[in-house]
Amino acid sequence: MIIDTLKLRNFRNYENLSVNFDPKLNVITGQNAQGKTNLLESIVYMSLTRSHRILNEKKLIREDMPFAEIRCIFSDEGDRKELGAVIHPQGKTLLVNRYPVKKTSDFIGLLNVVIFSPDDLYLFNEMPRERRKVMNQEIAKISSRYLLAMNRYQNFLKERNSLLKNRTVDETYLDILDEQMIREQMVIIGMRRSFIQKINREIGNLYRQLAEDDIDVRIRYRCCIDEEECSQETLQNMYRLCRSRDLENHVSTTGIHREDMVFLINDTDLTQTASQGQKRMVMLAFKMALLKYIRLETGKSPVLLLDDVLSELDGNRQKKLLEMVNDTYQCIITATDIPEHMKNVRYREFYIHQGKLEQPGGKQ
Ligand SMILES: Nc1ncnc2c1ncn2[C@@H]1O[C@H](COP(=O)(O)OP(=O)(O)O)[C@@H](O)[C@H]1O
Ligand SMILES: [Mg+2]
Repeated sequence: MIIDTLKLRNFRNYENLSVNFDPKLNVITGQNAQGKTNLLESIVYMSLTRSHRILNEKKLIREDMPFAEIRCIFSDEGDRKELGAVIHPQGKTLLVNRYPVKKTSDFIGLLNVVIFSPDDLYLFNEMPRERRKVMNQEIAKISSRYLLAMNRYQNFLKERNSLLKNRTVDETYLDILDEQMIREQMVIIGMRRSFIQKINREIGNLYRQLAEDDIDVRIRYRCCIDEEECSQETLQNMYRLCRSRDLENHVSTTGIHREDMVFLINDTDLTQTASQGQKRMVMLAFKMALLKYIRLETGKSPVLLLDDVLSELDGNRQKKLLEMVNDTYQCIITATDIPEHMKNVRYREFYIHQGKLEQPGGKQ
């Protein structure tokens, strides 16, 4: 996939922006607080239908303006597509080829991007919920079936938890809910397991190549049951075993909403041992593994967004990363200055100052 044009109206600090990207490498420079991350955020929005930074979407609307608009024209293996979003205080309207769509599942997965920003390093120390969010978000890019199963599961879970709040619980209804939840969980566990297996096929090698550090990097799927034996029967057993505890605690104490993925270095939780530099390289290897995962699963190359991370890598690692990306993925990089190593590489350059974009050395 290649993003040709991005247009913003009243998005964050942009009043009006229209930018044409290079099909391969783009570098956006600018001082701090000028709008570099905002620009990448609008592209992420086109991929996830939400920001990667904030939950309150009103903040995306330029101050004192009634709504924000994002339009993104991209080529999907030669097929030209246009995605749009209008964000207003009451919600948002999503458009595909200028027609509104009702379900986000009709939108997510059309334009896939992977973003790497310095804040991603917090993920290792976050609560499991944040890592589940990443799992969900990445699998949803390749499977609307997963997204639908997740939505249905969340609805059943809400229903089950509110049922458990009652003083006397209708256990026949609880049985029915458990059966429904088991059905959705079979799909979700299967796909999470396959996701982590596929990432594990790549992440170790990518880490070694990029970091030149001979340690073993892997992710462990912390599944709510023994994942090798995931079946209707084992899940039914799980529900049977935790029923009295759930009734006592008035909440659903087990299930895929309690799962986690743990990053390991030489089989030990990375948060226990890794240096900041190793964490950065593990996250980069994870992002590169995600790119490949999405490409292999969908047959289309996602777009890579690197927000202010290149300058954190030494010259050799910058070079390796760019070689790895080169020719396979369109890449949009932000930095305060042109990274040292890029002097010998061909790219399109942009400069941002107070929400206005210039293209040094020529017109777009
Ligand atoms: N809704 C908004 N309306 C107007 N300006 C905004 C809005 N949201 C953020 N900004 C401005 O955007 C700037 C930060 O942009 P950002 O893209 O994060 O900077 P950077 O170039 O450092 O990545 C700040 O000056 C902030 O005030
Ligand atoms: Mg920034």
